[in-house]
Amino acid sequence: MSFHSVTQAPARLNRSELAVPGSQPQMFEKAAQSDVDVIFLDLEDAVAPDDKVQARKNIIEALNDIDWNTKTMSVRINGLDTHYMYRDVVDILEQGGERLDLIMIPKVGTAADVYALDMLVTQIETARGSQKRIGFEHIIETALGMQNVNEIAAASPRNESLHFGVADYAASTRARTTIIGGVNKDYSVLTDAQPDSDGGRERHWGDMWHHALSKLVIAARANGLRPVDGPFGDFSDADGYVAAAKRAAALGYEGKWAIHPSQIELANQVMSPGSEEVDRARRILEAMKQAAEQGKGAVSLDGRLIDYASIRQAEVLVEKANQIAAG
Ligand code: GLV
Ligand code: MG
Repeated sequence: MSFHSVTQAPARLNRSELAVPGSQPQMFEKAAQSDVDVIFLDLEDAVAPDDKVQARKNIIEALNDIDWNTKTMSVRINGLDTHYMYRDVVDILEQGGERLDLIMIPKVGTAADVYALDMLVTQIETARGSQKRIGFEHIIETALGMQNVNEIAAASPRNESLHFGVADYAASTRARTTIIGGVNKDYSVLTDAQPDSDGGRERHWGDMWHHALSKLVIAARANGLRPVDGPFGDFSDADGYVAAAKRAAALGYEGKWAIHPSQIELANQVMSPGSEEVDRARRILEAMKQAAEQGKGAVSLDGRLIDYASIRQAEVLVEKANQIAAG
């Protein structure tokens, strides 16, 4: 390990994160009763400019009045380039009561954006004598944000998670896609033309989001934050959603957005370690404990090598399983 120790963000389940427009208060109760881990009430892109003020009022009322049970509660404020943002922060923090846990900041571009928000939130909390510290979720969804993701991730002790906002990211980078979070068959490889074969060539689709997803996960984990994958727009395509969530989970992501209630269960399933995986992790820990008692650093289990790195992986899995069980 490095001498530099990474402080981990507060442990929260973040397998699924439901987007709920602040302008649609009739959806709030259903969201509160769902199985989602985190809810963000949206003031940004799901709300039309003429509805912003009313949406803010709806959210303040809902944070005070609805029983959100054990859900982690967040509000997505408007971007720093809009004149809505300061009032989103001031009104929500001053009038939203103690139920709010996080603020979600869209289109973060630089570490200075985070600094500015931190200053504003700190002033409000200090003036109110708040006991609770609001955390930050950042959506990385512009070329600028992705370029500066490492500095953004390190910019405030309030930081808890980084989210890959694929829709705006595609717009910002001018990527060619039409479905939010979907892929493009042009991002593919064609197998070689074989002069002496029957000419059959195959096209293999690539994951055009791989680099961005991967870059974000590194920045998040290097700073003790949760990496969370963003939206998948075609909510009638459960298979497409699950495939996208599995790709993210394989890279180390902890959760994925649900832009429709039907996606909550899918995210919870993909982002929870399977019982076989957890059993094996527990067996690894047991086998390594016995190995340590015999003075050995590496042993074999089920015909495969396990060593101290296996312990760390197994511990992460078991810790996650315990967190879900306590959930
Ligand atoms: C989320 O905000 C996105 O743009 O994907
Ligand atoms: Mg966006």
